[in-house]
Amino acid sequence: MALKHQMVVFLLHMALLSVVFETGNAAGLKVGFYQKTCPKAESIVRQTVGGYFAKDPTVSAPLLRLHFHDCFVRGCDGSVLLNSTADNVAEKDAAPNMSLDGFFVIDAAKAALEQACPGVVSCADIVALAARDAVSLSQGPSWQVKTGRRDGRVSSAAEAVANLPSSFAEISTLKAQFAGKGLSTKDLAVLSGAHTIGNSHCNSFSNRLYNYTGKGDVDPLLNPKRIPELRAQCKPGDATTVVEMDPGSATTFDTHYYQQVAAGNGLFHSDAALLRDPLTKKYVYQHVGATASFFRDFGVSMVKMGMTGVLTGTHGEIRKNCALVN
Ligand code: HEM
Repeated sequence: MALKHQMVVFLLHMALLSVVFETGNAAGLKVGFYQKTCPKAESIVRQTVGGYFAKDPTVSAPLLRLHFHDCFVRGCDGSVLLNSTADNVAEKDAAPNMSLDGFFVIDAAKAALEQACPGVVSCADIVALAARDAVSLSQGPSWQVKTGRRDGRVSSAAEAVANLPSSFAEISTLKAQFAGKGLSTKDLAVLSGAHTIGNSHCNSFSNRLYNYTGKGDVDPLLNPKRIPELRAQCKPGDATTVVEMDPGSATTFDTHYYQQVAAGNGLFHSDAALLRDPLTKKYVYQHVGATASFFRDFGVSMVKMGMTGVLTGTHGEIRKNCALVN
């Protein structure tokens, strides 16, 4: 009997340990993870991003988007950076990722880091740091990035398609997809504010201008006043032209996104859909011009997103080349 009791206690301990271990992955991240092993890690990433930004400030938006697309597929494990191989189509080559950019900045930072401290800093951490630096260089907020992520060895285009939100999605789908990553409805409203910087290809929204339900109609959620201007920029079937998502300030991180959405000018159906849920709608209206509170929230939500499904400790690896498994 005593033996049975001991056995039960032992098993309970093991169960508890495994819970601690599971949740311990995100807990394995900490601010200043490379302080001893590569003290210049963060400044090297910042200098690299800063160098490219000085030449072309539009580099910021793709870097921010890269971190989002990394985290939503298999967690923030750098899997978005891996190349396809003879027997595997990687995330990078999935339809929603064809418009991703900024890989060259990550590669340049990695090359500099491999010079300074070989085999120490993960590609997943470089992506997280570069996203932060990109936003702050664009006059947005800054936040402390927890580091210690390790790089995954698996990357699948099918998983990218299944996990990345579509610009045509309704609010219920968006909320569910964020919840599936441990992100709240508020995080959805906050992180959508990232669309205050960057560009979009016409085909990510032109169905709203020409053929919303297949009857040659327009999306009723789009402000009719915005339609002629967008039609002038995007002809039917145009898949190459890009337009600024926040016209006139697409390289400045500010609260204009909320102004645009509140006025019915959000570019994507998924932007407009924020007005179809009481909580996200309230967030949008409250943040027209509320810079301080948006900036604070954005940092908090980015830190949260950056902990999604991370690999830490002895899991994964530190890739030598961000596009290839070791
Ligand atoms: C809520 C669901 C979201 C959807 C449906 C969505 C969809 C899109 C689409 C379709 C584009 C344009 C792609 C193109 O045609 O070139 C885009 C661009 C962008 N997205 Fe999102 N997005 C979402 C959330 C986010 C989040 C959470 C972030 C970051 C935290 C983000 C950051 C960006 C940025 C910065 C760009 C501009 C990229 C560039 O200029 O190259 N998005 N997004």
